[in-house]
Amino acid sequence: MSKEIQVLFLDDEESIIDGVQRLFMREAFGILATTSPDKAREALAKEKIKVVVSDQRMPEIAGVKFLREVKEKYPDVVKILFTGYTDFSAAEEAINIGEVYRFISKPWKTAELLSTIRQSIEHYDLVTRDKAHKEELELANKRLKAMYEMQKEFTSTVSHELRTPLASIKTAIDLVIKKMVGEINPEQEEILGRARNNVDRLKRLIDDILDLTKMESGKLQMNFMTDDIHRVIQEVAEAQKDVAHSRGLYLKTELDNQISKIPFDSDRIIQVLNNLLGNAIKFTKQGGITVKTQNKPAENHIVVSVHDTGKGITEADLSKLFHKFQQIESPEKNEEGGTGLGLAICKEIVTMHGGKIWVESKPGEGSAFNFILPIQERRIPV
Ligand SMILES: Nc1ncnc2c1ncn2[C@@H]1O[C@H](COP(=O)(O)OP(=O)(O)OP(=O)(O)O)[C@@H](O)[C@H]1O
Ligand SMILES: [Mg+2]
Repeated sequence: MSKEIQVLFLDDEESIIDGVQRLFMREAFGILATTSPDKAREALAKEKIKVVVSDQRMPEIAGVKFLREVKEKYPDVVKILFTGYTDFSAAEEAINIGEVYRFISKPWKTAELLSTIRQSIEHYDLVTRDKAHKEELELANKRLKAMYEMQKEFTSTVSHELRTPLASIKTAIDLVIKKMVGEINPEQEEILGRARNNVDRLKRLIDDILDLTKMESGKLQMNFMTDDIHRVIQEVAEAQKDVAHSRGLYLKTELDNQISKIPFDSDRIIQVLNNLLGNAIKFTKQGGITVKTQNKPAENHIVVSVHDTGKGITEADLSKLFHKFQQIESPEKNEEGGTGLGLAICKEIVTMHGGKIWVESKPGEGSAFNFILPIQERRIPV
């Protein structure tokens, strides 16, 4: 069986050609040894050459020049220069500028020549394999990115399309419940009431998904205005007080009013506070919730924290929280409802303000969800 030619030798001396041919006879790879540069070029075009060894001093072309030609056409091929003592400086320069991988001085030592060639083949295999892996990875990455973009586009379009019919269902239910199209009995009213609650839930979910996809693809602009953050916190706390009280929980604020006016998007920060307070109320059975702020002018930010005396979160679960659709209880067991988008949205919003959000918690004792907002603008450009 003929061996695959992997190594090419170019030398103008026939005796050298004969010598290397004999030397490599027993190797697993085939070699082609020639005195003709044209034959060498032909072989490079036809065979899967991994290593080229060229003599430096030849009548038709200098070795360094021939190897440069090889480099341009076949950049991965490993190039070795055969040199006599007098050509040493040419070889050194070629190595320094990366034209050749090694040089072998003549007369060669058999063992050294064999091992250099074997190493060079290994070198070629390694480099090309790495390159192929990298290309494969890049391609897979590109495909994934395209799929992700498509999925985002799809989610956003579908969510949009769902909103209109949902709004019309809600209007229809409202008309009937409000008895604007005739009398209904209490049982019918109750059934429709449940339907309306579910429509509201679905609407919230669609709004959340749309918000997140927009934020993730940078399509949601924040509307920053310098405003009183403490007034906004008070308003949200006030609005949630009834829910907390109805569950037997207290809800209080401890605000550090020293600095109040900071730039933020009030609708979005209200969304963050509503989710953090909503979560705190949902996951607390006894005690209550305290919203605190701390001014840190030296660090150019204020810290807002929502403390609860609820069930807390284990160390292992902490890292999951800010990812989409992550809930600690499985949806079937989670009696509190929700979809696990709230904290992912909070994180996007706070990040777009140039802040960060984190949680500290002790199972059985409670949790504190904290976020910081810059006092002076330091936002991530959208
Ligand atoms: N204060 C808290 N105490 C204990 N666990 C919490 C608290 N806040 C959040 N969690 C856990 O983190 C999960 C994710 O919260 P997140 O606000 O993202 O989703 P959700 O409240 O379940 O649903 P959504 O906010 O989308 O309506 C919750 O399901 C809960 O398991
Ligand atoms: Mg939530």
